[in-house]
Amino acid sequence: MTERVVLAYSGGLDTSVAIGWIAKETGAEVIAVAVDVGQGGEDLDVIRKRALACGAVEAEVSDAKDEFADEYCLPALKANALYMDRYPLVSALSRPVIVKHLAIAAKKHGATILAHGCTGKGNDQVRFEVGIANLIPDMTCIAPVRDYAMTRDKAIEFAELNNLPIDQNKKNPYSIDANVWGRAIETGFLEDIWNGPIEDIYAYTSDPRVTREPDEVLITFKNGGPVAIDGRPVTMLQAIQELNRRAGAQGVGRIDMVEDRLVGIKSREVYEAPGAMALIAAHEELANVTVERELARFGRVVSQRWTELVYDGMWFSPLKRALDGFFDDLNSTISGEIRMTLHAGRAVVTGRRSDESLYDFDLATYDTGDTYDQTKAKGFIDIYGMSSSIAARRDLQGK
Ligand code: ARG
Repeated sequence: MTERVVLAYSGGLDTSVAIGWIAKETGAEVIAVAVDVGQGGEDLDVIRKRALACGAVEAEVSDAKDEFADEYCLPALKANALYMDRYPLVSALSRPVIVKHLAIAAKKHGATILAHGCTGKGNDQVRFEVGIANLIPDMTCIAPVRDYAMTRDKAIEFAELNNLPIDQNKKNPYSIDANVWGRAIETGFLEDIWNGPIEDIYAYTSDPRVTREPDEVLITFKNGGPVAIDGRPVTMLQAIQELNRRAGAQGVGRIDMVEDRLVGIKSREVYEAPGAMALIAAHEELANVTVERELARFGRVVSQRWTELVYDGMWFSPLKRALDGFFDDLNSTISGEIRMTLHAGRAVVTGRRSDESLYDFDLATYDTGDTYDQTKAKGFIDIYGMSSSIAARRDLQGK
């Protein structure tokens, strides 16, 4: 029987050419699978038909938008996941859900090989291959760009030679990866890290420097997830979409950074994630009100570990799963409302209220009538500082 390959298909030049390229190199049949994670852009049925026109024996489109929002973006929000304190894991979150759908298609069509369009330089190859190894351990992986020297120029030549239905005008100087949680823009003139980004590269956000009216939004959370916006009930997906629109219109969530990749390379990355960044800012502040200090402090340490695991392609690992349990527990009190102003590239919290609040006005107030006994503070400080005072007395001796 002819071997079968499932290909993670995006509809772009590289993965379209990869269909014929893989067939030529391996003699296998190619099944193209496109996964809708809210990337927008081209109609997915057009993409599906293009795969067939490029020689795929089967082509499928899976709608994973709600699944991606509920099972991937929500856990990231519960962990306030920001890699290197800035990047909300946009691409890192989508790879495991894509892998899951590839695994389903592989089982359905009897495929034994997984193919993807990544190069050998990035994180995504690791996320695809470790991911599939965790779901279907005996699957093998191929990456035509990396393994069969399918360079961009050769791909274009191949497309022309074989009359593949690819719009040459669509050639983009950037490498873009997008989903509902955000958009990543790489390469082109951005590879010179002194070059500033230009307005052209952005699609989810408007220029934050343009003067416009601020937008005030009320976000209701339950157990760490958004459940209503301005009083209207929303799903996780709808919350992200609405905030992408509203925060994006105010230029919120643009990130320009040099990033440490898993493979050891430092790379220049530009992101826009208006909904994600607004939600994380709101969630973080509601946590400040409702999560006890020691749990909150430890949560920040765990957040970094969770984020690095996910960035490094360990979504399906036992440690990541266990830490999800920790965050579910930590988020059990993160319920209430956050009022925030979206304006001039910033999402700023201006109000918070919660039935789970640990903020005690009578303890915190500097007005008369507070319930805090200030006389007790003095003794606390003496004992609290004692061990380092004893050490200081020794170290200052004879100086
Ligand atoms: N550097 C980011 C990450 O590893 C984004 C990768 C985006 N991929 C792309 N083809 N532009 O998560």
